[in-house]
Amino acid sequence: MPYVQADNTGGLEKKVTLQTLHKMRGQEKFVMVSLYDAPMAAMAQKCSVEAVLIGDSLGMTVLGYDSVIPVTMEQMIYHVEAVARGNNKSLIIGDLPFMTYATPQQALENAARIMRSGAHMVKIEGGAWLAETIQMLTDRGIPVCAHIGLTPQSVHKFGGFRVQGRQTDRAQTLLEDTKILNEAGADLLLVECVPSALGTEITKASEIPVIGIGAGDQTDAQVLVINDILGLTPQPPKFSKNFLQEAGDIPSALKLYRDHVKAGTFPAQEHQFT
Ligand code: KIV
Repeated sequence: MPYVQADNTGGLEKKVTLQTLHKMRGQEKFVMVSLYDAPMAAMAQKCSVEAVLIGDSLGMTVLGYDSVIPVTMEQMIYHVEAVARGNNKSLIIGDLPFMTYATPQQALENAARIMRSGAHMVKIEGGAWLAETIQMLTDRGIPVCAHIGLTPQSVHKFGGFRVQGRQTDRAQTLLEDTKILNEAGADLLLVECVPSALGTEITKASEIPVIGIGAGDQTDAQVLVINDILGLTPQPPKFSKNFLQEAGDIPSALKLYRDHVKAGTFPAQEHQFT
């Protein structure tokens, strides 16, 4: 019996909360999709996708920029509102874009704007330096998903979209970040583009659910960007999969992705990093 019940059309029966996702840990993987508009958000609800992210990837997938850096608060708010109008059952997570959470006070003001737009939680990129910010937000009732590993807002610091944590010292830092972000009160941890063995270590070291994207098959959940699922990305990343090709239509593609995550068959070996 699936942890989150489907209604008689296959859609989510009840609202998914953070507590639902915490309870699923160790019992059943949950599924997340990064998407940006009302019809796709409604489709995700219909296909029992437990969490939807309005990622700042929208800068690249929808707005045509070559990085996420130009994305503004106004653009994020516009898309969070659209997603919230289309879906009243999945947990809705909104990204804070580049340089909108450089200080705890700035983070508080901007996180409040994202929450008022319809998000249930905010996502911010970074490690130990975010501890004070996370504490400030969670103390004031704003749940936080912390994003580590390949954090696209730091693309220029990394010199490109590169796998993180292949060197021992960087892997160690990511493990220390995991501990600090847990202690600071983060409610979810998202790990992007790390070797699978490190993704597994981070998951074991974390007390909160870990969502992976290019972080192997042992995390508590998986997230993919809707454009990748639907084969819309000209040069798709290794960790993604075009589910539309096999499924034939959009709802079937979302369901196929969901079924593979639940069964532990996505990501397969070919989508993972060593
Ligand atoms: O912005 C986004 O869509 C993301 C996902 C790739 C995790 O951060």
